[in-house]
Amino acid sequence: MNYEELMQKAEEVSKNSYSPYSKFPVGACLLTSSGKIYTGCNFENSSYGLTICAERNAVGSAIAEGEREILAVAIYSPNQDCCSPCGACRQVLQEFKPQNKDIDIILKSNEELKIIPLSKLLPEGFSL
Ligand code: THU
Repeated sequence: MNYEELMQKAEEVSKNSYSPYSKFPVGACLLTSSGKIYTGCNFENSSYGLTICAERNAVGSAIAEGEREILAVAIYSPNQDCCSPCGACRQVLQEFKPQNKDIDIILKSNEELKIIPLSKLLPEGFSL
């Protein structure tokens, strides 16, 4: 699965977003070291703080299938060019960074893919 395809899946799953409060749909599609992909969209709650971002939803699906290493994540919102992951999601992704390898964060900007290593978005990220 190449990065264009990951982005296409992220765009597709953003259509399932449950975001009646922000009206800001987001979709994410991640690739793991086993070569499988997992998708997620954001889902909100009337108690606003309980909202789950698309990225964390996708990470949860991967973990539930036994995955522990994330290689790349594509993120898409129809509402924003280059929809970058929030701080909480950056930290959650960092947990599943393979040893001695970065995670490629794939964003869509002006119809082009932009690839940024997670370590650039989260310098000096916390790990135990
Ligand atoms: N959102 C995501 O799904 N991922 C991000 O990285 C940024 C924010 C969602 C949360 C909320 O449902 C909406 O976008 C507006 O903040």
